[in-house]
This record gives sequence, C-alpha cells and structure tokens, in this order.
Amino acid sequence: MTAVFQFQEWLTLHSARVEAALENLLDPVSTNPGRLHQAMRYAAQGGGKRIRPLLVYAAGALGDAKPEILDAAATAIECIHAYSLVHDDLPCMDDDDLRRGRPTVHKAFDEATALLVGDALQTRAFEILANANCASDLKLHMISALAAASGSRGMAGGQAIDLESVGKKLDLAGLKQMHAMKTGALLSCAVELGGIAAQLDPGQMQCLEQYSRALGLAFQIVDDVLDATSDSQTLGKTAGKDAANDKPTYVTLMGLDYAQSQAKQLQEEAITSLAGFGSKGQALENLALLVVSRAK
Ligand code: IPE
Ligand code: IPE
Ligand code: MG
Ligand code: MG
Ligand code: MG
Repeated sequence: MTAVFQFQEWLTLHSARVEAALENLLDPVSTNPGRLHQAMRYAAQGGGKRIRPLLVYAAGALGDAKPEILDAAATAIECIHAYSLVHDDLPCMDDDDLRRGRPTVHKAFDEATALLVGDALQTRAFEILANANCASDLKLHMISALAAASGSRGMAGGQAIDLESVGKKLDLAGLKQMHAMKTGALLSCAVELGGIAAQLDPGQMQCLEQYSRALGLAFQIVDDVLDATSDSQTLGKTAGKDAANDKPTYVTLMGLDYAQSQAKQLQEEAITSLAGFGSKGQALENLALLVVSRAK
C-alpha cells in the first residue's frame, strides 16, 4: 500500500532544509567585512516563503537527485531571488521601505550596502553551484540555466521592462512577456534545476517546462492581485505600491476578476502538465495550489 502524501509535513521538512542550507552556505558575520555579511544574511534569512527552493526539492523528487545537490541549487536560487528583492526595493527601482515584514536592506543598512548585498549574493549563488559535490557536466548545466534565468533575457531584463513601462499601458502580450521574464524565469529555473539534478529525460523536462511556464505567470498575477487587494501587515511589504508607482499590472490592465480567473486557469494548466509523473508529482501539484491560493 502506498502512503498518503502529506503536503504539510513535506512543506515543514523542506522549509527547514532550506533554512539550514542557507545558514550553512552563507558566510558568518565574523567574515570580513562583517557589516556586508550581516546585511547579506539579513536579506536572505528571516522570512520569505521559499517557493523557489521548494520547487527545486519538489522537481528533484521526480527522479532521485542527491539531497546535497538539491541543497546547493535551492540555496543558489534563493540567493539570486533575495538579491533581486534587495535591488527591486531600492529608491531607483520600486522605492520600498518594507520587505518580509521588516525594513528593506537599504533602510536597515544603507543604499551602497544594499547594492553590494545584491552583487555579493549573486556571485555567491554561482560559487555555491560551482562548489556543489556533483559531476562537472551537471554543475555546468545548472550554472548555465541559472545565469540565463537571472540575466538580461530573464529576471534582470524583465525588471528593465518593468521600469520602462511605468506610466505606460502595455498590451496583454507585453505584460505577459514582462511577467514571464521578471518573475517566471527564476521560478521556471528552480523547477529546471531540480529536473537537471534528477537527470530527467527531455520529454519529462518538457512537461516541467509547461508546468513552470504556467506557474510563473500565475505567481506574478497573484502578486499583482494581492498588491491591489491585501494590506501591508499581511503581505509584509507595502500594499498598493503598483498603483502608487503607476505600474501596468494584470489588475490595472485586465481587471481583478479576470486576473483571478486567469490565475486559476494557469494553476489548472500547471497541474495538468504533471499528469505523466503520477504520485511523484504531488509536491509540485500542491505547490501550484499554494501559489494561487496564498494570502501573501
Ligand atoms: C516576490 O517574491 C517578488 C516577486 C517575484 C513577485 P516572493 O513572493 O516569492 O517573495 P518572498 O521570497 O516570499 O518574500
Ligand atoms: C518584482 O516584482 C520581481 C522581481 C524580480 C524582484 P514586484 O516589484 O511586483 O515584487 P514585489 O511586489 O516588490 O515583491
Ligand atoms: Mg518591481
Ligand atoms: Mg517591487
Ligand atoms: Mg508586486
């Protein structure tokens, strides 16, 4: 008899795993310069849903990826994500004071430190992957995937489009492309890293790509919806910021009802693409449900 999959237990276990891996793989505050390392830890630890690392573990479970490779991939992608948030909050970008329920890095430290935290978390991510205990070709594949997803054709490029679009009305195709790049690329990469570590075959990787493309867009639609409908206390970041900054979002372009129904449809699409994985896909399926039903 196969055991019933307990998502809450899976979540607790793997969330703790991410925290432990970050604790191990980030430099201690005693490393010189202490203030920079303290700020890097402040940015990467103490909050965050850890969706990207959780996706790494969930995709890794489709094969039999070695746990320590998944730890390296999970930590690396969370470092890139944390850096993207630190820079996203800077006065020259979204100008936010609150992140994960605490002052943003440039408020708790200073702007120059926030800039350097981003630089250093980014390079630490690649160092972690390069030092992972696995075959060189696997590592190279993961490094290449993470670099592509983080750079000008991925997250950083999407952030550039986001800034260029302030006060403008993007069409739906333009908005989708911006979301796919600024947010979807890293979420897809998390799933891809798990798949690479699990050494899945090309057909399986293609199913994962379909899953993560839908999930990535759903994720940013929900972020746009929550920005417009929730409060800062619940979100741990400033609510209503997209409207205040005159950003084109799913809500401003398509309306709240459409945005919500689109997120649900994408959730279904993501789950459908897991069909071939059977019960091994349960963690990924539950993560898709979580992404769309989350309150923060
Ligand atoms: C926020 O990401 C930024 C976006 C890409 C929308 P998350 O909602 O994953 O933020 P944390 O990591 O949980 O704080
Ligand atoms: C940010 O999108 C995406 C990133 C690459 C960090 P948002 O600007 O909407 O993210 P939040 O709402 O500040 O977390
Ligand atoms: Mg932004
Ligand atoms: Mg922002
Ligand atoms: Mg947002």
